[in-house]
Parts: sequence; structure tokens; C-alpha cells
Amino acid sequence: MPDRFDLPEDFRWGAATAAYQIEGAVGEDGRGPSVWDVFAARPGAVRDGHTGAVACDHYHRYPEDIELMRGLGLDGYRFSIAWPRVLPTGAGPVNPAGLAFYDRLVDALLAAGITPLPTLFHWDLPQALEDGGGWLHRDTAYRFAEYAAVMADLLGDRVPTWITLNEPFVHTVFGYATGTHAPGRTLMFEALPAAHHQLLGHGLAAAVLHDRGLAAMLSNNLTPVRPASGAAADIAAAQAYDTLHNRLFTDPVLLGRYPDLSVLGVPDDIFGAVHPGDLDLIHTPGLDGLGLNFYNPTRVAAPTAPGLPFDLVDIPDVPHTAFGWPVVPDALRQLLLGLRDTYGKALPPVTITENGCSVPESTTPDQPRIDFMSAHLDALAQAIAEGIDVRGYYTWSLLDNFEWAEGLFSQRFGLVHVDFATQQRTPRASYAWYRDLIAAHRARFAR
Ligand code: BGC
Ligand code: BGC
Repeated sequence: MPDRFDLPEDFRWGAATAAYQIEGAVGEDGRGPSVWDVFAARPGAVRDGHTGAVACDHYHRYPEDIELMRGLGLDGYRFSIAWPRVLPTGAGPVNPAGLAFYDRLVDALLAAGITPLPTLFHWDLPQALEDGGGWLHRDTAYRFAEYAAVMADLLGDRVPTWITLNEPFVHTVFGYATGTHAPGRTLMFEALPAAHHQLLGHGLAAAVLHDRGLAAMLSNNLTPVRPASGAAADIAAAQAYDTLHNRLFTDPVLLGRYPDLSVLGVPDDIFGAVHPGDLDLIHTPGLDGLGLNFYNPTRVAAPTAPGLPFDLVDIPDVPHTAFGWPVVPDALRQLLLGLRDTYGKALPPVTITENGCSVPESTTPDQPRIDFMSAHLDALAQAIAEGIDVRGYYTWSLLDNFEWAEGLFSQRFGLVHVDFATQQRTPRASYAWYRDLIAAHRARFAR
């Protein structure tokens, strides 16, 4: 294939997954329950009553999955570590069998020539910590730093770069504000202490990693926010949404302060959660890289009913994914340029740690996914040409997997199709496309 993406020689190619979405084996080898095991068991919480109890059975089939990665020619693999597999109650004694799994996984990746990029927290909090208040409880941040130390001591000799948290925005809003994800709390803006405590946990864990000579990244789900019209009320609503989705999770880390939260009606100290010195703990360790998970831009209008200070509205006249998300690839370029405008020199190098789309199972070949990735890589190459430092691209996802509240069958994000009845893996057309793209990129610099 022609290598039409003008990306730098050392650009890294990867794929991403998360523990609860692929591992299965939830009751094996001493793993403790997570909030997702408990939430998914609630009637009606997940489409079709699905759970991640088996998912892709990656816990047992990881050698086969690494072969699929090797076949793609990946430089890196982003996966997450299940905190309750390592520390079944979130704190206290470690579970040697759980540690041994990640030890084997990392060794097998390195043997395949693939750099492991672990995420410490991708939403599967040990249920024992949730029982004590979860991320609404300040101590959870300190337990997270202790867990980070356990993992860094185990794998730091082989794993140089770590991601602390995945998408604290989505976890806070879906998990604690609206309750469509675990732990299923419905606190609306009073959920925001959970955001602060995750950010505090990030800062404490980043310091732990740095003490051991390791690099720390944070993966945020960011979205360029567009007002539905030029009307002042729409612009104000867009600013409120941008504060909640983007700036709340990025300003403290990069700038050492929160944005003006009064636009959300939230007090500066986030209902007493922000203690003196916390912003230093979040900001001072510094960020070695910003992980950017990009799916779609967001269009916002003034609220039509009391409650929230914004309404989210559809973007008409563009394609939509199977999930109903608008496909606007140039929004990725705009987002990257906007990050430079907002943060300037405080913006660290960026890695795209997720980007991809769901396609209905019956779509063969999965051309919409190829088109999605291709157009987003074009937008990325343009942003790089405009001077943004982007180091790599990890597609979401390697495999069809447990898509949270949507269960197993409805939203298929994989380059590889998974038959959940037989665990048969079948690479899709996008798998071959990505493989050829990576090979062509390498060949250009080998000449
Ligand atoms: C998308 C949001 C979406 C959410 C649901 C995010 O990655 O950017 O638009 O609502 O995931 O999982
Ligand atoms: C999450 C993934 C999820 C993907 C698609 C991101 O919000 O990090 O876990 O599967 O979007 O919804």
C-alpha cells in the first residue's frame, strides 16, 4: 500500500485494550471482585445481561493474542492491569498469582518485540475500596499510589512508561454522576470529588513512578466542543461543557490549577475535596506524555430544561458510527491545535492512546473502520506538520470486547472479530490494512 501518511520515522504504532474488557477469569487465581463485576450483575445494568466474566478469555489466550499483535507488526501494546487481580481487596497483601500473570504477559510481549504500555486504572476498582466510598473517598488516592508502587517494583525493570488513569472524565461522569457505568452512582455534580481524588491519585502515582526512574502519562478522553450557534447562550453552554469534559481533567495536571468551576455551579474546593497542597501534588510530578483518547467532537446548546447548564446535541450531516457517534476526523487536528493554544509549553508530547470505531458485526469487510482510521491518521499527520509533537497511535481496539454498558455483541471495536461462543479470533480487513500501513511506514525509512 502506498504510505501516504507523512509521519515521522520514530512514530510508534500500537493497539489498546483494557483488563475488564478482555481478560475474563474474574474468579480465578485469587482475583478479588471489582466494581464492574458487581455492577454488571445488577439486572438491567448492562445490555442483554452480559458481564466481563469470560469476555475474550485473554487471561488464558494471551499467547494467541500476542501472535495477532506480532502479525500486525505493532511497536507497542497498551493494556490495563486489573487492580483487584493484584491486590484483591485494593490494599493489604498482594496476590502472587495475579502478579505472575502480568509478569508473564510482559515477558511474552517483550519476546515478541512489542513494548508494553500498561495503564494502572481502567475503571475496575476493587469492590472492597468502593465499599469504603471508592473514588469519593480521599484514601483511595493513597491506596492507588501504593498499588502503583507494587506494579512498578514488579515490572519497572522491563516497562519504562506507564499510564496512571484512563479517562477520569468518563469514569467520573458515567460511574458517579449518571450511573450508566460502575459503580452506578447518580450524584450529578456532587460526583466531582471523585474526579479530584482520581487526579490526586494520578499525582501521587506519578511521583512513585518518577522515584523509580519511570515515565508517567495520563490518558484523557478529550473532545473539541462546538457551540450549536453563535448565540451567547449556546456559547456559554459550550464553555461549561468544555470545562467539565476537558479542562477539569487537564488544567490541574498541566497548569496546577482548576478552571473556573462556577460555570458548573461547583465551588472552587469541589465540595471540600480539594485540600491545601493538593494541586501541587497533582501538578509537580509533571507529565511525561499526554495520552489522548479521541472519538468525536461534541456540539453543545443552551439547556432547554433546568438541571444541567448545557444540552448535548447531534452533529448533523456527517457519518455516524454504530454507536451513533459523529465522525469528524478534522476535529482531531483542531483538538491538537487547541491544546497547544491553551497549554503552550506546558503541553507535553502527545500519544494517541485510543482511536477507533464500532462497526456492526455484519459489516464485511469493515471498510467503515478503515475509512475512520485512515481519515484520523490524515488529520494527525496534518497536526504534526503544523508542529504538534505526537509520538504514536494506539488503535482501539485489538479485539472485539466487553463494551461496558453495551455488553459483548452490539459495539464491535476490534481489528479482530471475536466469536464469544467459541473464542474464535478472525482478523478483519482493517487488520490487514493496519498491518500493511505499518509495514509501508517502516519500508519508507528502510530505503
Ligand atoms: C466518547 C463519548 C461517549 C463515551 C461513551 C467516549 O469515548 O468520546 O462520546 O459518550 O465514550 O463510552
Ligand atoms: C474507553 C474504552 C471504550 C472505548 C469505546 C473509551 O471511552 O477507554 O474502554 O471501550 O472508549 O467506548
